[in-house]
Amino acid sequence: MRKILVTGGCGQIGSELVMELRGKYGGNNVVAAGYKRNPSKTLLNSGPVEFIDVTNRRTVEDVIRKYEIDTIYHMAAILSAVGEKNPELCWNVNINGLRNILEIAREYDLIRVFFPSSIAVFGPGTPQYNTPQETILRPTTMYGITKVSGELLCEWYFKRFGLDVRGIRYPGIISSETPPGGGTTDYAVAIFHEAIQQKRYTCFLKEDTVLPMMYMPDCIRATVELMEADLVRLKHHSNFNLTAMSFSAGQLAREIKKHIPEFTCVYKPDFRQEIAESWPRSIDDSAAREEWGWSPKYDLRMTVEDMLERLRR
Ligand code: SER
Repeated sequence: MRKILVTGGCGQIGSELVMELRGKYGGNNVVAAGYKRNPSKTLLNSGPVEFIDVTNRRTVEDVIRKYEIDTIYHMAAILSAVGEKNPELCWNVNINGLRNILEIAREYDLIRVFFPSSIAVFGPGTPQYNTPQETILRPTTMYGITKVSGELLCEWYFKRFGLDVRGIRYPGIISSETPPGGGTTDYAVAIFHEAIQQKRYTCFLKEDTVLPMMYMPDCIRATVELMEADLVRLKHHSNFNLTAMSFSAGQLAREIKKHIPEFTCVYKPDFRQEIAESWPRSIDDSAAREEWGWSPKYDLRMTVEDMLERLRR
């Protein structure tokens, strides 16, 4: 039986991942570890919750020993916009935190580690359309720099110690349960809340800014499917390109307007525009499709329908 630790377990992806894993492996076998965010009642009532600081190795090790953890989903990270405002924190959490996790995984002989990479590993010099799996990785954000370094660090642990680390370059993730914390793709979540409550949203990206995106159910399924894939089939490990759809801020606003006709969106780009423009418009995820059978379910229309229904409930 798996004994799983999810760091960043109260975050946007972590909180939903914990619930999926608890359903699959049993509530008591999945520890949600948070740092600052208050855990939801759903998390607290369905299994163990612990507080850890991934930059403080001892706090992680205590939890590993207490629950005899054998698998870590290391979701704790600082996102792109916060990373530009606080680069030191971003480096410390995303690099030193990851290194603590990998060292602990090696020393305690853990079975498997998951590492969330991002489309932020790409930069202005990367082909922007259908961005290949193997391509130029020269990001211009601190967040992107930590994610490229993180991928390389994970590869090194695999090659050097045989540590089974797997990871996905997530596109922007749209979700209804827990808000994202400080990314450039956050607009694609905030717009839904504002459309329902205010019938108006001021977007921090330009109307024609296109980014690769994915709805949370696909994101969770991809994560679990990669972690369950047969190792011998994997030619890549910690850096799988992944996508479900690509749309501009304007396209998303128009799709929401089909359901909320009074909704208006205005565009006031800020510093995040430059970050968004350094990232790809669309992603080639054929390696994920070939090596572990990835296939997305949600397109823009289905995502908007489901998001509005959930948020209204
Ligand atoms: N969604 C993230 C961000 O915007 C990218 O991985 O920072």
